[in-house]
Amino acid sequence: MSYRVSVQPSGHQFEVEPGETVLDAALRQNVGLPYGCRSGNCGSCAGEILQGEAAYPEAEPGFECADEHCCIFCQAVPKSDLVIKVREVENVADIQTRTLPCRVVRIDHLAHDVIRMYLKLPDNQRLQFLAGQYLEFILADGRHRAFSIANAPHDDELIELHIRHVDGGAFTDYVFSKMREKTIQRIQAPMGSFTLNENSDAPMILIAGGTGFAPLKAIIEHAFHRGLTRPMHLFWGVRSRRDLYLPELPRQWEREHDFFRFTPVLSEPDADWSGASGWVHEQVLKEYPSPSGHEIYMAGPPVMIVAAREALRKAGVADDAMYYDAFEYAAPSEGGKD
Ligand code: FES
Repeated sequence: MSYRVSVQPSGHQFEVEPGETVLDAALRQNVGLPYGCRSGNCGSCAGEILQGEAAYPEAEPGFECADEHCCIFCQAVPKSDLVIKVREVENVADIQTRTLPCRVVRIDHLAHDVIRMYLKLPDNQRLQFLAGQYLEFILADGRHRAFSIANAPHDDELIELHIRHVDGGAFTDYVFSKMREKTIQRIQAPMGSFTLNENSDAPMILIAGGTGFAPLKAIIEHAFHRGLTRPMHLFWGVRSRRDLYLPELPRQWEREHDFFRFTPVLSEPDADWSGASGWVHEQVLKEYPSPSGHEIYMAGPPVMIVAAREALRKAGVADDAMYYDAFEYAAPSEGGKD
């Protein structure tokens, strides 16, 4: 038998299936309860049960709540309908940045200069983040290197990064030539305020430059997961066809969602390329000469963001309808995001 949980003070409600924890059910239904480890160890998910009863069937030996009013929702399975009180995560300010160890569990070579890396936190840790945020590697000498998280939060077992090799960049040289699976790294995460505005239903234009595709992938997958059907049009600007390092994925999105469109744009097109070419923001304006009324999400090198922002502003897009994540290509000073 499933139970209904009502959250105070937000008034959000969700159903919990038999045997399911309150936290798992909340996240499955896009209610943003806070969490850290999802294994009963950190207390980040703690709140109160105001009405009803819950049990802790899967809790590890020695597990206990701080007091009789406290409930650890990542372990709690309802025994009745519940009214609970907990602070929900609604924006980046609600999530604490943490320093964590992680293991590199997989490296895929996606293109001549881009890899996809998957990181795993220790077994008793999960990273809570919002789609579009980034993390920083903490290097042995204390410097930090930033990368956007490419997966959406509902799929948080591993953290996915897209890393482009930067000529002369010591960190990406190391990643491409020496870093192996099973390597342990320290990260600080999550960071950044480039996220989806979930209070809007305006159509979205998403503009990626190179590995700027990564945070937009997270935002798009999050929007699909939320069941949003706002029109979304992704423009992905790269130099030539070989730089489209995951070309099949947006094409698959296009086949699966009739409100999603994908336009790759090559600035140095291959001889046999018959698609869009030139600067990515110029292509956007060719297809949307009057883009006001849209929300614009942009991620890529600063030069692309600046050019796109200026051109869109001239075309009538208000500043508060433009969201962007500009990263620096970090060579050789190693500042900014790769
Ligand atoms: S105790 Fe860490 S998320 Fe529940």
